[in-house]
Amino acid sequence: MSARKLALYEDATNAWGLIEADALQALAKLPENSIDCVVTDPPYGIAFHEEAWDGADIRAAVASGAQLSTGEAFERWTTLWANECQRVLKPGGHLLAFSAPRTFHRLVCGIEDAGLEVRDQLLWLHAQGLPKSRRLPGGLGTTLKPAYEPILLARKPFEGRVVDNLKAAGTGALNINAARIPREGSNAGYWPAHVALSHAPACKSGSCAEDCPAPRLDASVSRLFFCAKATRHEREAGCEALPERSVQILTGKHHPLRLVRNTHPTVKPVELMRWLVRLVTPRGGLVLDPFAGSGTTGIASMLEDRMFLGIERQPQYVDIACARITHWAKKRT
Ligand SMILES: C[S@@+](CC[C@H](N)C(=O)[O-])C[C@H]1O[C@@H](n2cnc3c(N)ncnc32)[C@H](O)[C@@H]1O
Ligand SMILES: [Zn+2]
Repeated sequence: MSARKLALYEDATNAWGLIEADALQALAKLPENSIDCVVTDPPYGIAFHEEAWDGADIRAAVASGAQLSTGEAFERWTTLWANECQRVLKPGGHLLAFSAPRTFHRLVCGIEDAGLEVRDQLLWLHAQGLPKSRRLPGGLGTTLKPAYEPILLARKPFEGRVVDNLKAAGTGALNINAARIPREGSNAGYWPAHVALSHAPACKSGSCAEDCPAPRLDASVSRLFFCAKATRHEREAGCEALPERSVQILTGKHHPLRLVRNTHPTVKPVELMRWLVRLVTPRGGLVLDPFAGSGTTGIASMLEDRMFLGIERQPQYVDIACARITHWAKKRT
């Protein structure tokens, strides 16, 4: 085991920490009933970018994985980490987990089998995916353009009434008012729906690109949550002292190489993560992300005045997450 393994990076104010470790090992060391919510973007089990962490590693982590189908192995693995989340969550604590449309059913069953109660399915509509289709003669293809990601909302069961659990543990309910959608001429805002929208990459302020879902779905008065896409500036902010690395950008027909400091391939928008953190975390509560990646859940937790504990296995991503969270934590109000 290298010296870096299981290192805990903590900031001076104790507002956040990051553990460099395998999620299953690190989760097992956390005390039970100690976490207010889990907000996470785990591997989707689709071998994204041919990353081992989204494919072969999952099967390898499951005992007898060799005999299981890819879907079965992904579901079993999901249950392994969700069991630990269920143990460390306070009763009534919520869990939000992103997924891919084609593996979502496995994620939901895996999490349900761990004893969490399925509460809802949110959709993040972004219209920004690229079809990974084979182009066959005669206008045929093999996939559609990915345009949304499902997000599971689950909750750790509790005994008795929600009001009593709220009093005892501070958990069990959603922060509806804090997550309301701003409404012109009203202080209250609209009740948050289980759909979040992002503009398409080519949208400019006040004018939407042709493939943008926003004007079609939310034409006149906005009643849904909107968030900007994660711009290059947002992804890189705070990483100035890290080395530049060459990555392949999967946009359009060509896949150019670009020099970046945040090399993570699946960075979520800060605004989207802020809304989700706001929705499920009690004021001042502790958010856990066992698959922290480049740390966007941590950034959101800092900006929403919550505490954060992240776990990430890859040292390179831990460095990026540390740099990004440090940068954004300075903006904490
Ligand atoms: C989908 S990414 C999260 C991206 C993150 N939401 C962001 O905005 O940067 C999932 C992360 O889980 C990490 N990971 C995969 N398997 C893991 C494991 N067993 N333990 C800890 N981290 C793991 C990967 O290295 C990857 O960074
Ligand atoms: Zn738009």
